[in-house]
Amino acid sequence: MVLGIISAMSEELELLLKEMDIERTDKKANMEFNYGTLWGKKVVAVVCGIGKVNAAVCTQILISEYKASKIVNVGVAGGIGAEIVPGDLVIANNLVQHDMDTTAFGDKHGQVPRLDTFDFKCDEELVSLAKNVCSNITKHKSFVGRIVTGDQFVANVNKIRWFHEEFNALACEMEGGSIAHVCYLNHVPFVVIRSISDNANTGAHMDYEKFIPIAVENSTNILKGMVLAMK
Ligand code: ADE
Repeated sequence: MVLGIISAMSEELELLLKEMDIERTDKKANMEFNYGTLWGKKVVAVVCGIGKVNAAVCTQILISEYKASKIVNVGVAGGIGAEIVPGDLVIANNLVQHDMDTTAFGDKHGQVPRLDTFDFKCDEELVSLAKNVCSNITKHKSFVGRIVTGDQFVANVNKIRWFHEEFNALACEMEGGSIAHVCYLNHVPFVVIRSISDNANTGAHMDYEKFIPIAVENSTNILKGMVLAMK
């Protein structure tokens, strides 16, 4: 089993890479793939950069070149709805790309045209593993539900209302839906776990900077719990 760990930003993998016994670091597609052992498991940990294209390229390399058999994506997200506040955790059970729009052909917003699924479902075992681990992090609440992805940092109340009404989403971010899409095409189990860094409202960028360290601590703790519990 080789576990692929993807994060969009270098801050998020910094602590984890310090704990990892790195055998080699390969540069591919302008990304550094760190191959080695982490808490007793073979992993490849990589910072993919921001946005759907970076995330998709990275995921395909993990699958094709490193034979990753499971993929976990950790990072930050904007919270949707009043109950979800910065610091909280959202585990996706499915993802949709909110910026995919072929409604002119009669498709629903988010539908990848001519694909046999609307949403990309996370692996049930990985979701329940993540749920167990997150429930031990008592400092923050955790939620399970849909995450929406698009190439936009959202700082607009109307847009988050639309995410709620159209997709019933709990959080929005910029990579998970494309990682999910690539895993779906390759039949590789995956899960996306995000720490809420902002409420995706008009002050989104202000909360964002403040909550990055909390998100980093969350991601590292969650990954540790999950990797240790994995067979
Ligand atoms: N990641 C963290 N906050 C976000 C936001 N408001 N929109 C998109 N991606 C995010």
